[in-house]
Amino acid sequence: MPRNIIDIVDLTVDEINELIATAEDIIADPVKYQNACAHKQLATLFFEPSTRTRLSFESAMLSLGGSVLGFSEANSSSTAKGETVGDTIHTVSCYADIIAMRHPKEGAPYAAAQFSEVPIINAGDGGHNHPTQTLTDLLTIHREKGRLDNFTIGFCGDLKFGRTVHSLVNALSRYGNINFVLISPLELKLPRYVKEEALKKKGIPYTQTTDLESVIPQLDILYMTRVQKERFFNEEDYLRLKDSYILTPEKLTNAKESLSILHPLPRVNEISVAVDRDPRAAYWKQVKNGKFIRMALIMKLLGIQV
Ligand code: NCD
Repeated sequence: MPRNIIDIVDLTVDEINELIATAEDIIADPVKYQNACAHKQLATLFFEPSTRTRLSFESAMLSLGGSVLGFSEANSSSTAKGETVGDTIHTVSCYADIIAMRHPKEGAPYAAAQFSEVPIINAGDGGHNHPTQTLTDLLTIHREKGRLDNFTIGFCGDLKFGRTVHSLVNALSRYGNINFVLISPLELKLPRYVKEEALKKKGIPYTQTTDLESVIPQLDILYMTRVQKERFFNEEDYLRLKDSYILTPEKLTNAKESLSILHPLPRVNEISVAVDRDPRAAYWKQVKNGKFIRMALIMKLLGIQV
């Protein structure tokens, strides 16, 4: 059976720490890795839109000396003819050495993995999980703070449908002394199953609020998210909730000097462009980190050491 990464808990904490160390080494000396995956092929199968995740996977594989194939729209594959995800994956696993897939249905990568002879990486499944964004987030936090424990993190925005939030809460619940502040409209609270599994069962403290400004002074990290338009059942609700939180330079006046602001991107309007100039904005660094940690993950799943 190949090793798949469907959920962030498919990696142990030690493995995550090793991936971060490898990513740091890649950043320090990229030339050392430029032929690591020579003659290996990565397939990126995106049944849902993407910019960063797909391109960072592809850039990662190309920077390792490998090559890439795949599709960025379900309509350009045989899915449009009625082929099942299982048959598509079975086919691609005959050609590629490793597959990164994104799908609008929760659980699709898990189902797909049953038909694959090569490792499957979940690059986002519906409103469920997004483990490689979490690796990106963890590398970014580690680079910004020098640690993955002992801090207060605020998650703000669409915590209900935001898959990156679900995976990151899960991942951080395995590190020590983290205080979780969950900031969202009442309708977009963190799903009960995530709270139960990641926080309540482990006795990890958290607070829930609708008010970003009242909690901003206590935060070491602020993880902003987009309201996930494509997961809403009706447009009216989306329109009512989409502008719930807009981070501006004014709102940051009471925040810590040492705050780090993260966002998985894409942003719509929840962070004003003026915040990009604030030294606390870490989201463009986060975009770069996404490539390096994916390089580390691809090598690990292919069993390649440099
Ligand atoms: C996120 C996603 O696809 O879940 N984007 C990403 O992969 N960086 C966040 C989002 O779409 O809001």
